[in-house]
Order: sequence, then structure tokens, then C-alpha cells
Amino acid sequence: MFKFPQDFFWGAATSSYQVEGNNSNADWWPWEKKVGHVNSGEACRHYELYNQDFDLAKELNHNAHRLSIEWSRIEPEEGKFSEVEIKHYIDVILALRARNIEPMVTLHHFTNPIWFSKLGGWENKKSVDCFLRYCDVVTRALAPYVRYWMTINEPTIFISHSYMFGFWPPQAKSNWRARAVHDHLIVAHIKAYALIHKIYKESNLGKPAVSIAQHISALVPCLSSARNRFAVYLRDWLYNFEILNKIKHSMDFIGLNYYSRQLVDTESWWIGSLLWDVCKKNHDPVKKNSLGWDIYPEGLYQILLKLKKYNLPVLITENGICTADDNLRWEFVSDHLKSIHRAMEEGVNVKGYLYWSLLDNFEWDKGFGPRFGLIDIDYKTQKRTVKESAKKLGQVSKTGVLP
Ligand code: FCB
Repeated sequence: MFKFPQDFFWGAATSSYQVEGNNSNADWWPWEKKVGHVNSGEACRHYELYNQDFDLAKELNHNAHRLSIEWSRIEPEEGKFSEVEIKHYIDVILALRARNIEPMVTLHHFTNPIWFSKLGGWENKKSVDCFLRYCDVVTRALAPYVRYWMTINEPTIFISHSYMFGFWPPQAKSNWRARAVHDHLIVAHIKAYALIHKIYKESNLGKPAVSIAQHISALVPCLSSARNRFAVYLRDWLYNFEILNKIKHSMDFIGLNYYSRQLVDTESWWIGSLLWDVCKKNHDPVKKNSLGWDIYPEGLYQILLKLKKYNLPVLITENGICTADDNLRWEFVSDHLKSIHRAMEEGVNVKGYLYWSLLDNFEWDKGFGPRFGLIDIDYKTQKRTVKESAKKLGQVSKTGVLP
């Protein structure tokens, strides 16, 4: 039996583009059509159906919910802010508050307004000021109802997928361009952090809690050679901790997104090999999700211990599995909660667990195939069906006890 604190946050996370539908002012929208990618289209129609979805979250005993604000709705044209959309997000947040669910708000979750991309997106130096102007409007509007903020979701994934591997718009494959984006995102976070705090102070609202949601993979040397261990050390620093180290004085907690491990097996001392090679020989096989990612709960425990040095509370802002096997989903959740519990017993201050995701949704370049949700979506009818794993997690949320 594993007991969690009384005030632990239990809930799930979503992002606007993945669930709302019809985000036609975001850069992904024309890009999907241009490259012939499956369209996000109506997604889960959460923009209209949020009350119904939050009723289900409430039935599942969630007391926290992470959502993102769609910048391209708030500011569809440069400098023109939509009162209607601002009001929409106030309504969404009040809908959570009415159910006693703590709203946790992400300001940037991968998508950008089309006008912003046309200016060069995050490569442009001006991006930081554009982002801050948007943050200013949103924070002033939502501050009375929100305490927890994440400025930017997974900067390292955004940089690598959009600017290094070329998977996502603008499909760049350039270390130079990636570097510029990296630098601007860091400055954007640090300045947004200060701005959010300033607004709360001016409005006598008490202190907000501001962070990013950082993607961290467990890095495991396959065969324990010196080269593999060096590669692990290098990757850990570069992908997992470099950004956290740069912003460590501008975080009130650490938002952690954890999914999987990399089994590191390098072929040579070439830098590309050190940075990217993974085991192809099926050493140490473990169960996988439907996208082939290794399931590795132990990694969450290891990472949490590594985060201890920052001396900050940690919030699990994402952790989840895409699978058609709902028993495996429950096994995944239960094993990861055990890892969290173990780290807490060893002194890590974990504040809550937000499963990714509340709903099956649009999984970026993978489309609608992967099913991460606690709630199944029938995309033809938009019917919601609560999965058994969701009910089991709901019991844990209710009692604070994992059997
Ligand atoms: C994370 C993203 C989230 C979702 C999950 C599966 O990297 O933050 O939007 O796609 O992966």
C-alpha cells in the first residue's frame, strides 16, 4: 500500500491544439494541409465540450487539470487580441474552479500563430517581445483565477522536432537555427517568469507558481562501456538539464514530463553517435507503448532523485502511455506512481501527478492513432467513454492510497 499526501494534486493534462479542434490560426493548421498530414480538424471538439469533459474529470476525482492557452486564438493577428477568446478561456478556468479542480495553465504548447511564424517564429529576436506581449494580456486576464503557470512546454522537444530533425513545422534541419530558437526560448521564459510575478504583485494577488514543463528521458547505458557512459553524461547534460540549469533562478517548481528511456549504445566516438545512437540489438527488452517507446518506471524515480539538487517542489506535468491495452495502461500508471512514492520517501517534494492525457487526442505528426487518453474518444461521434484504468486512477485520487 502506498499513501500519498492529503494535498497531493491528482489530474490530467491536455493542450489546446490537440483537443480543441478548428485552430485554424495556428501554424500547424496550414502545415498539415501543405504536407498532406492527417488534419487535426475538429480534434475532440473540447472547445465546445469542455464542460462535459470536466464533469468526467470531476467524476474521476481529479483535483487539478493542466490545459494550454492557444496563442493563435488570443492573438489571431499581430497585436490584435480577441476579447471573445480571452473570455472563452476565463470561462474554461471558471468551469474547473466550479468543480474544485485547480487549473494549471501552459502559455505555449508547441503551436504558434501563423503571423508569428511568418515573422520567422522563434528564430526571430523579436519573438521574445511578441511572446511577452501575449503573456501580459493572458496573465492579466487569468491571474485572479489561476495560481500555477507553465510558460513553455518541452522546449527541447520543440527545438529538436521543429528545427533539428525537421519532423514538425517549420521542418528545419539546422543546428544554427535550433540554437537561435533555444536562446530565445530561454530568455522568453526568464522574462515571462518575471512578468507574471510582477503582475501578481501589482494586483495584490499573492504569489503565483511559475515553471516550464521539461521533458526528461531516462538515459541508460546499454553495455556499460566508458563510451556509452560518457554519452549518457553528455546527453543528460544537454537534453535534460541544460535548460533547467539556465532558468533555475526563474522557477518556483519543476514541471516534469516523463515518458520513457533511451537505451544508449554508441557505435563510435563521433559526436553524432554520442548524441543520438540507441541500442538496436534488443538488449534489455522491456514492454513498449504503441509507438514503440520503452516502458521504464524506474527512470522516473532516478530522475526525481536527480532533481533534488534544485531544491524545488516537483510537479509531474505529464506521464502517460498510448496503448490499446487498458490493463497495460493501469500497470504503467501504477508502476510510475510507485516510483514517485519511492522518490518522495527519499525526500523529493513531489506535489502532484498529471496523467497525459485526459482524452485521446491529436498526437502531432502521429495523428489520431496513438491513444493516450483516460477517456476514449470516438472521433466519428465525439462520444466519450471512460476507460477502466481511469476509474482505477480515480480511486487513488479519491483515497490518496495506491493499493
Ligand atoms: C509530449 C507532449 C504532449 C504529447 C505527449 C505524448 O511530448 O508535450 O503534447 O504529445 O508528448
